[in-house]
Amino acid sequence: MRNIIVFFMFIIIITQSISQDTRTLLLTKFNNVQYQCTDPGCSSSTTMLVSNLRACEIACLLNTDCRTLTFDQSNNQCELFTDIPSQYGSLISQADFITLTAIDNKNLLACKYHQHYSFPFSLVLAVTTAINGTTASMTTTLSLLTKTSSTTSSSSSTTSSTTTAVAIRVWSATGSMSNKRNYHTASVLTNGKVLVTGGFNTAVLNSAELYDPSTAIWTNTTAMSTLRKFHIATILTNGNVLISGGNDGTNFLASAELYNSSTGTWTTTGNMEIVRGAHIAVLLTNGKVLVSGGDSGSGYLNNAALYDPSTSTWTAVSSMNGKRVSHVACILVNGNVLVAGGYNGIYLATAEIYNFSTNTWTNTTSMNYARQMSTISVLSNGKILVAGGDHGVSLNVAELYDPSSSTWTVTGSMNYARTGHAAIILANGKVLVTGGYNGNSAAELYDPLTGNWTMIGNMTASRSYHTISKLTNGTILVAGGVRNSTMYLKSAELY
Ligand SMILES: *[C@@H]1O[C@H](CO)[C@@H](O)[C@H](O)[C@H]1NC(C)=O
Ligand SMILES: *[C@@H]1O[C@H](CO)[C@@H](O)[C@H](O)[C@H]1NC(C)=O
Ligand SMILES: *[C@@H]1O[C@H](CO)[C@@H](O)[C@H](O)[C@H]1NC(C)=O
Ligand SMILES: *[C@@H]1O[C@H](CO)[C@@H](O)[C@H](O)[C@H]1NC(C)=O
Ligand SMILES: *[C@@H]1O[C@H](CO)[C@@H](O)[C@H](O)[C@H]1NC(C)=O
Ligand SMILES: *[C@@H]1O[C@H](CO)[C@@H](O)[C@H](O)[C@H]1NC(C)=O
Ligand SMILES: *[C@@H]1O[C@H](CO)[C@@H](O)[C@H](O)[C@H]1NC(C)=O
Ligand SMILES: *[C@@H]1O[C@H](CO)[C@@H](O)[C@H](O)[C@H]1NC(C)=O
Ligand SMILES: *[C@@H]1O[C@H](CO)[C@@H](O)[C@H](O)[C@H]1NC(C)=O
Repeated sequence: MRNIIVFFMFIIIITQSISQDTRTLLLTKFNNVQYQCTDPGCSSSTTMLVSNLRACEIACLLNTDCRTLTFDQSNNQCELFTDIPSQYGSLISQADFITLTAIDNKNLLACKYHQHYSFPFSLVLAVTTAINGTTASMTTTLSLLTKTSSTTSSSSSTTSSTTTAVAIRVWSATGSMSNKRNYHTASVLTNGKVLVTGGFNTAVLNSAELYDPSTAIWTNTTAMSTLRKFHIATILTNGNVLISGGNDGTNFLASAELYNSSTGTWTTTGNMEIVRGAHIAVLLTNGKVLVSGGDSGSGYLNNAALYDPSTSTWTAVSSMNGKRVSHVACILVNGNVLVAGGYNGIYLATAEIYNFSTNTWTNTTSMNYARQMSTISVLSNGKILVAGGDHGVSLNVAELYDPSSSTWTVTGSMNYARTGHAAIILANGKVLVTGGYNGNSAAELYDPLTGNWTMIGNMTASRSYHTISKLTNGTILVAGGVRNSTMYLKSAELY
């Protein structure tokens, strides 16, 4: 009898979609075979420890240059080879090793392989893959080849199939901040860097840090003059960042300060007309900043004031019709300001509009759901999306305000109930919502065209009270937050 190596041979196709990038590998599987990189011309390999063969296959799939892998079942060592030089002679019989090699027009030599080993099998081939934008289902169809060796004419065939959904890593970790923080602010400066200020991590912070997208590194910048949490940041038309109010751990604050991004320094500016934190600020189309409501420590506020950058002063304006803290506000297309919801002893559904030319507040229709700490986003069609928030329990409901009819309409609900989450509009018009209380790492996208929410991959960490910022190139930066009531985060990640 000829002394041939008898392989069990399988055809495996693994496919994974990363954004628009589809990678398919047709692999031939050999049990008890090791691929050895013995030839001097052999390409480099990467060795890693993995939990199982599947993890090794995925590692190969994710390494766009990988053409061959060997997995040593005795020690879980996975070795990836970047291509297959013409050296199939380096396949050796070795117990516990599994080798998968790519079969494609670049390197197949499957025929050569057959010749080389007088391979006594014929192929039974099966493949399936399902791919969509956010999840790749990896279907591995193992087809035992029919044995047709020259010494026996008996044949057998078995087929097994397993499917594993592989979550695509749409989030990637980036540099971490120096400080863990939640209740901080984040502002994208005109130079593209992101300024993070203050917040809380067992103590209230005055420190500030800058994220540089070109290096993915955070560096300390000058600290604010005052410890602040529950403060708010507004980017002025001249590029300075206005920080107003907040709480220093003991008192609510009237003070405000300006960050000059070209000098990296802070200067104090006029005090607000009243102390407040957990208030809202919006930049009006005339360059002034409207603050409204908040907590004074001795009561919820309906007060509103305007900051004039040209005089560095605050002026009280008409008060809102209702007292509100942890409410939301948005500039409408006509320049008026919508404020909605919040809390003043009860959860609020009420909403009102500030007319900046007459300096008056007018009630508009109330939301369908009373809530505080929701998110608010202005869609490209001019409608306003309010999502989630707290009503004693976290809500998943979302609704749209149509400024032309002054009405609220319930739209699709999020897959997760969320409070302390973050939302931002993407360049494609969809709204990204991330995290929330308590220990939520999930992220989902709202499509204004369908009114539906779609899960995308989870963030690398569960976060609430984190910040979300859109970098100049459209990439989204999420920073800090709290994983649960005690674990503050300094990590940051990109979408
Ligand atoms: C994407 O594929 C996965 C796995 O097949 C499936 O669970 C998910 O619903 C799909 N998503 C969409 C948006 O079709
Ligand atoms: C955008 O910037 C981020 C941060 O620098 C970077 O990781 C990402 O690759 C950039 N995206 C594009 C499309 O250039
Ligand atoms: C940055 O500031 C933090 C305090 O806010 C400090 O602990 C850290 O050492 C500073 N990092 C550098 C590189 O100076
Ligand atoms: C920032 O500071 C520099 C130097 O003092 C000054 O020339 C510049 O006008 C400031 N920028 C703004 C926007 O205030
Ligand atoms: C406007 O709404 C407030 C509650 O936010 C309410 O107290 C007030 O009566 C309303 N005003 C009018 C004119 O309906
Ligand atoms: C503001 O109110 C005035 C007076 O009612 C009105 O003429 C004007 O159109 C309003 N402005 C906006 C942008 O709604
Ligand atoms: C994604 O996040 C949600 C909420 O935190 C969690 O329930 C789910 O298990 C996570 N999914 C994965 C694949 O980690
Ligand atoms: C999207 O929303 C529409 C209603 O707006 C609904 O009929 C449809 O089933 C939703 N599709 C998904 C995938 O949730
Ligand atoms: C917060 O997370 C840590 C680490 O996962 C855990 O040990 C702790 O029990 C959690 N605390 C709460 C309040 O869930």
